[in-house]
Amino acid sequence: MTNSSIIIAPSILSADLSKLQEEVDSIEQFADWLQIDVMDGQFVPNLSFGAPVIKNLKTKLLLDIHLMVEDPQERIEEFLKAGAKHITFHAETVKGTDARKSLIKAIRDGGATAGIAINPDTPLDEVEDVLGEVDLLLVMSVNPGFGGQNFITEVLEKVRTAREKFPDLMIQMDGGVDSETASKCIKAGANNLVSGSFIFKASDREAAITSLRS
Ligand code: DX5
Repeated sequence: MTNSSIIIAPSILSADLSKLQEEVDSIEQFADWLQIDVMDGQFVPNLSFGAPVIKNLKTKLLLDIHLMVEDPQERIEEFLKAGAKHITFHAETVKGTDARKSLIKAIRDGGATAGIAINPDTPLDEVEDVLGEVDLLLVMSVNPGFGGQNFITEVLEKVRTAREKFPDLMIQMDGGVDSETASKCIKAGANNLVSGSFIFKASDREAAITSLRS
């Protein structure tokens, strides 16, 4: 996998939310996707933002919605209307192959690509029923809820296995991704990296994003 094919998705969770449009403008020419961490205070302890915030964001970056919510099937409509081009739901919130497949279909029918996420403690075989149909697997490298946490190295094994079994699947990683851990993610087979605090706390955001690709 050449590093130029690595997608970088800054996560706005760690941006200065008092000037969100400015923050997005500051990384727009260097990044590929923009990840929006939607948290409901139920599935994860934190409460973040909803569709109204996204609707007002102006960007050419692909809007990637990471639904850390108990009821993702109730949420997708509002985010599709707000311009989402990719939506990821958590396997821990949608049980059963049929339910997962119908949610994947609903997201795609709305014109977006669909992803399924697994937390660090969730084994890969828990989602193998849909990995053949989903557009993206998100392997969390932190327990979701907050930015700025430490990378959980053990999850790399799941990335290696997923890459081996599904050579064409887009594999995203999210949580503690910085210039150190990014190369480990890419080596394991990830080709889409979410990074929040590393990028938004950097004095040179272009250099920070470039360092994730190499
Ligand atoms: C966790 C969030 C974070 C965020 C990235 O729930 O999903 O992983 O996107 O945060 P950093 O890159 O600061 O770990």
